[in-house]
Amino acid sequence: MPRTLIADTVNKVGETVQLAGFVDTKRDHGKVTFIDLRDRSGKVQIVGYKMLGELKVESVIQVTGEVKARPAAQVNPDLATGTVEIDVKSYEVLAAAQDLPILVDGDGREINEDIRLQYRYIDLRRERLNRNIRLRSKFVRALREGLYAQDFVEIETPILSQSTKEGARDFLVPSRLHPGNFYALPQSPQQYKQLLMTAGFERYFQIARCFRDEDLRADRLLEFTQLDLEMSYVEDVHDVMDPVEKVVKDAIAQVGGKLRDAQFPVYTYEEAMKEFGADKFDLRSEAEKADGTLAFAWVIKFPFFKKVDKSDAAEVIDGKSGWTFTHNPFSTPEKEFIPDLLAGRNIDKIITAQYDLVCNGYEVGGGSLRAHTREVLEATYKIMGYSQEEIEASVGHMLRAFDLGTPPHGGIALGLDRLVAVLTGETSIKECVAFPTSGSGSVSVMSAPGAVTGTQLEELGLSVKEQA
Ligand code: AMO
Repeated sequence: MPRTLIADTVNKVGETVQLAGFVDTKRDHGKVTFIDLRDRSGKVQIVGYKMLGELKVESVIQVTGEVKARPAAQVNPDLATGTVEIDVKSYEVLAAAQDLPILVDGDGREINEDIRLQYRYIDLRRERLNRNIRLRSKFVRALREGLYAQDFVEIETPILSQSTKEGARDFLVPSRLHPGNFYALPQSPQQYKQLLMTAGFERYFQIARCFRDEDLRADRLLEFTQLDLEMSYVEDVHDVMDPVEKVVKDAIAQVGGKLRDAQFPVYTYEEAMKEFGADKFDLRSEAEKADGTLAFAWVIKFPFFKKVDKSDAAEVIDGKSGWTFTHNPFSTPEKEFIPDLLAGRNIDKIITAQYDLVCNGYEVGGGSLRAHTREVLEATYKIMGYSQEEIEASVGHMLRAFDLGTPPHGGIALGLDRLVAVLTGETSIKECVAFPTSGSGSVSVMSAPGAVTGTQLEELGLSVKEQA
């Protein structure tokens, strides 16, 4: 007999069906046992006479039984299938569950996070997490379809790569074939997507995994996902902001999100700092916070450079002159500031064609119009104190591409984990990732980072210092 999905049982009163799923809850009344059976489509009450009593919750079973209409007094209005129940004739245990290390009913917030991550596959059975992960999938699909409709091409870029300056520390991967040499995992696909503009694709996007070895916070992960895109022949920041705003709004509508503003308000960095004291802010009233409204806004006209924060390792490396970029060294200044950039003067006054997207107090995206000529990119690196040799070593490949004809371009990356967090009302983005790393950087379910064997180290030409 083919399997029926639980949600379909309401249309099959009087029929015999076969269901399969997890034992969600069990109530044993001696001769009669009631179980809520759960599959991907929902839950239904199944009833066993002198059977089912021995089953442990979260075991996986398959049952055959008759769909019966419940008498009016017994209809459960809280259950989508509350008008029916299944009179079980026979069943089979497909996989018995032992006592669970964590309970999966309730929202789980009271459970120790390390244990939730160790048993993430159980934690994900929890309705809240299951809903978050499904919403994420639906949201990504809507974003993808919106971009395909606007003629974007989805292209993958390498994970084993060279350092890409996004202002964080790199994750390094030792090379066996080139002992003593290392790949860096991408902090973002920034340079590759610009090179795809050189290649003539004009409109690129990718659901891109990014890696940044930075201190963790509730809105930061070591590996996270961006909706990354880039467009050629853009002249003004609105040439990128407008289509991105449309794609985001359409996708949010498709997952049932509620927007505060039909048109996202735009603040300059200066206005935002004056009004909110920060470049990310929450525009919602208390009532809007309570009903899950999403308040998006753009921030534009950022300073291009800032003084290096000496306590930030990545900034110290990038900002040799004591100046470093605020967002992205590949940005271009707003047109009127190009002469200052080229001359390396009034550095603190140079405004970059950068735009950030904020929502409910989070920075959920950032992008810019880019340098697409050698002069502009070289001038940026000179301001940061790079010698011509250091510039060549760091971004020579980009300069070469610019020399070979790169259309003017710009783009953005949206933080997908953060967007899903604001959509679901979660305060930690980990709740929107299937297998996130823990606060101390350990992976969920498996055990990494971990030691490797002496042979592996030898092959890589590495030795590990005695740990204090
Ligand atoms: P940026 O560094 O601003 O820009 O990153 C874009 C967006 O990614 C999200 N984000 C993160 N989310 C979770 N954990 C992290 N550690 C983390 N870091 C960043 C944020 C952020 O707004 N290449 C440029 C984009 C561009 O210019 O096109 C870039 O990566 O929501």
